[in-house]
Amino acid sequence: MTTRFDAPGLVVGPLVPGALCDQVLDHAATGRAGLAAILGDAAQRHALFRRGMRADRLLAATVDGKLAGYLSLKHAGRGPLAPSPGDFIRCHGWRRGLHGFAVFSLIEARSRAAPGGAYLYGIDVLEGFRGPSRFPPDGVGGALIRCAMQRANSLGATRLEMETRNPAARALMLRMGARPVTAPVLSWTRLLMASSGDYERLCIALPRPESMP
Ligand SMILES: CC(C)(COP(=O)(O)OP(=O)(O)OC[C@H]1O[C@@H](n2cnc3c(N)ncnc32)[C@H](O)[C@@H]1OP(=O)(O)O)[C@@H](O)C(=O)NCCC(=O)NCCS
Repeated sequence: MTTRFDAPGLVVGPLVPGALCDQVLDHAATGRAGLAAILGDAAQRHALFRRGMRADRLLAATVDGKLAGYLSLKHAGRGPLAPSPGDFIRCHGWRRGLHGFAVFSLIEARSRAAPGGAYLYGIDVLEGFRGPSRFPPDGVGGALIRCAMQRANSLGATRLEMETRNPAARALMLRMGARPVTAPVLSWTRLLMASSGDYERLCIALPRPESMP
């Protein structure tokens, strides 16, 4: 499922074992910077996450063979990061490690889509590749999201959900067709939204799997 776009040299697709895959996993393993108080700095997060990462939850964008960005998806309850309690203890010792594992697991449990959906866990377009104009029609970020829509659809999802408080990410998602989620008062999604702080939940409706190009 590798897709070439109109922009010259831009290719987006799943990771295959090799140097590019390792580069993406190294980048993505420093994610969750918002939880630095619990997980530590970028080097500590890399040490914690890198071993157990699930490459099949990531898509990469390259321009002329160079990494331009990546996106991670969560589906069937599993995202790109899968640290074990042992990883936490190895990196942070027993006390802090077990506490960190419990807090991280709780936070992870709420970053999910409603049943029937896939969750856009993270997106990162590397500096120098950002902006829609250099890589028309949608930019590297838009191309990654389009590929994620195809991937989610191929997994049977009819929605791609995400939470963000980043204005550029929000603008990108809206440009790609996302709309703010509204949910019934007594629903699991409303509970997730009520516990999301200043993050906004957005959703891209996907065509039925059999009609996706
Ligand atoms: C979020 C991100 C993927 C968007 O990449 P991109 O598609 O190349 O898009 P841009 O950075 O050009 O911005 C997208 C849109 O947001 C707008 N924008 C950029 N910075 C903005 C800001 N600080 N406030 C408001 N709007 C902003 C741009 O004008 C553009 O608008 P348009 O769609 O109407 O043209 C990229 O900025 C990124 O990787 N950031 C670092 C990682 C990150 O924060 N990821 C999101 C959280 S997981």
